[in-house]
Amino acid sequence: MAYETILVEIEEGVATITLNRPEVLNALNSQVFIELGEAATQLTADETVRVVIITGGEKVFAAGADIKQMATATAVDVSTSVRPSLKAFNLIENMPKPVIAAIAGYALGGGCELTLTADVRIAADNAQLGLPEIKLGILPGGGGTQRLPRLIGAGKAKELIFSGEFISAEEALRIGLVNKVVPTDQLLIEAKKMAKKFAARGAVAIQMAKTCINEGLQMDLDRGLQYEHKCFSLLFATEDQKEGMKAFIEKRKPNFQGK
Ligand code: CAA
Repeated sequence: MAYETILVEIEEGVATITLNRPEVLNALNSQVFIELGEAATQLTADETVRVVIITGGEKVFAAGADIKQMATATAVDVSTSVRPSLKAFNLIENMPKPVIAAIAGYALGGGCELTLTADVRIAADNAQLGLPEIKLGILPGGGGTQRLPRLIGAGKAKELIFSGEFISAEEALRIGLVNKVVPTDQLLIEAKKMAKKFAARGAVAIQMAKTCINEGLQMDLDRGLQYEHKCFSLLFATEDQKEGMKAFIEKRKPNFQGK
């Protein structure tokens, strides 16, 4: 599929989506959101794809939603145009395979919010993250007020959102906003290394574990534990469970088929 604002490359079961509007620091306009949604749908359906990486390359992840496109918008325009972003972010967050955000340079506003839809965030040591919307007289409208406090707690999320300040990769690691920090020239190598590790595991078990975590975060503990138990039981109907346990007993590596 040909896209105008993103690149999609698939290699050995790992798909890499690269944001591709370098002239505006990968600012996310409505076309980007539409294409991200289309790519998420395409990669969800592609059974050869086991893991997805979202990146902007080694210079910049994304400097936020496109301010020039938003500047003269009315409330009606925004309430309509925000739908592609909500749709794309929900599709990415709920993809039935792991999604890794590989973040270099600025990941601001909608760019930072896009990283929050991923399962794991790896930051380059040149990364700067933040939600500067408050400085534009708005609030983070791409899930920032909802996903960020769920990830790092309300106190830290409020500090970031109220101040609009950027934080370094190291600070993001300290507060749990990113999983690890790597040298910038190693970012994509490390992201692919992690992707290959995930790809070697049982795809059905990963999909169910992701659903348990994402759905469980919306439930109280008792209902979450019941949901987990149902998913756990269902996995005993898969070939991967038989293979995984047989391989352990036979002291060899499992050969999972994702069935
Ligand atoms: N939207 C549109 N264009 C943007 C942009 C954005 N979010 N961020 C950068 N650009 C453009 C600049 O206008 C500039 O274009 P021109 O050359 O045509 O002037 C080009 O990208 C390069 O940017 P700068 O010259 O500003 O680069 P810099 O290195 O001096 O500064 C920066 C970098 C600190 C990231 C600065 O560009 C900046 O502050 N950008 C805006 C960050 C921001 O406020 N993001 C939040 C957007 S609102 C949002 O995301 C809403 C939401 O919740 C969904």
